[in-house]
Amino acid sequence: MYSAPAKQSVLDNVEFGVGAWAWGDRLVWGYGRSYSAEDVRQAFNASIAAGVRMFDTAEVYGQGKSELLLGEFIKTTDQQVIIATKFMPYPWRLGRQSLLRALKGSLKRLGVAQVDLYQVHRQMPPVNPETWMAAMVEAAHAGLTREVGVSNYNRSWTQRAYAALAREGIHLTSNQVEYSLIDRKVEKDGLIKLCQELGVRVIAYSPLGMGLLTGKFTPENPPSGIRGGRYNRRFLERMTPLLTLIKRIGSDHAGKTPAQVALNWVICKGALPIPGAKNVAQAEQNAGALGWRLSEEEVAALDEASDRMSA
Ligand SMILES: NC(=O)c1ccc[n+]([C@@H]2O[C@H](COP(=O)([O-])OP(=O)(O)OC[C@H]3O[C@@H](n4cnc5c(N)ncnc54)[C@H](OP(=O)(O)O)[C@@H]3O)[C@@H](O)[C@H]2O)c1
Repeated sequence: MYSAPAKQSVLDNVEFGVGAWAWGDRLVWGYGRSYSAEDVRQAFNASIAAGVRMFDTAEVYGQGKSELLLGEFIKTTDQQVIIATKFMPYPWRLGRQSLLRALKGSLKRLGVAQVDLYQVHRQMPPVNPETWMAAMVEAAHAGLTREVGVSNYNRSWTQRAYAALAREGIHLTSNQVEYSLIDRKVEKDGLIKLCQELGVRVIAYSPLGMGLLTGKFTPENPPSGIRGGRYNRRFLERMTPLLTLIKRIGSDHAGKTPAQVALNWVICKGALPIPGAKNVAQAEQNAGALGWRLSEEEVAALDEASDRMSA
């Protein structure tokens, strides 16, 4: 296989980021009802104050609203922020030009001339990864993105995307995938191992299991809406022993919260968590996953409890 030496990356030394899906999204997260633009502005400010510098968005989040809000917020800070956004390969987007057009739309909403990381949002037929990576090469050469990533790519597509970029001397920076204590598919199927071998950073999305790993939901009080469909009462019952262990480990670390333990576990696994935060309290709490480490024994115990849950 072709290989491109991993050069310096914008994600070097980045342990943690914030996901901005909920910023502007009404359908899944209820933006405009249970929280407002002011809440997410405060979540951004609190994250910056806590030293967080990487923010992940997508053209589809809130149909562009998330990029607009993030673009507004970054103008108000003097800190250098790393912006990652995504291209949705809708089946009607067939050619390289569609990616370049979409990227220009994202740049306009974000109010910047270049993003740090541009990611293909998912693997979706009919267009193959080689075509999208060719478009990414053009985007990188045109200076519209500094680096290239993918998302939801399986092992075969990751390898193909990696090779297509490597032939052009560009390193595939990252693969953004769902990864948490309640979803370890990418660990079990060898994707994480492959990424590590290739030097591709694993960005962990939904690292709090869409909020379930914060411990605020119980079998008696399951989430509602779209989340409730995926995580019902039975799921929460199976999750209870894992949550009990997470809480015990948190209290052994001077009162770390379940969210902080769950995010620290992702970091210990070598992945970069990007938890969503809708308000200042969530942003502050999540950033408290930084600056300390679970022991190897604790990580192993959490692995075991999570395995037992899915057995
Ligand atoms: N590439 C992809 O296909 C893909 C897919 C999904 C997500 N993502 C990315 O990953 C990011 C994070 O994933 P996610 O938003 O699905 O899930 P998540 O980070 O696991 O959970 C985020 C949600 O949990 C709740 N929450 C967060 N912190 C909390 C705290 N400290 N205490 C209590 N509740 C808290 C909030 O919702 P409530 O307050 O409503 O409970 C928040 O919106 C997204 O923003 C997006 O950038 C990417």
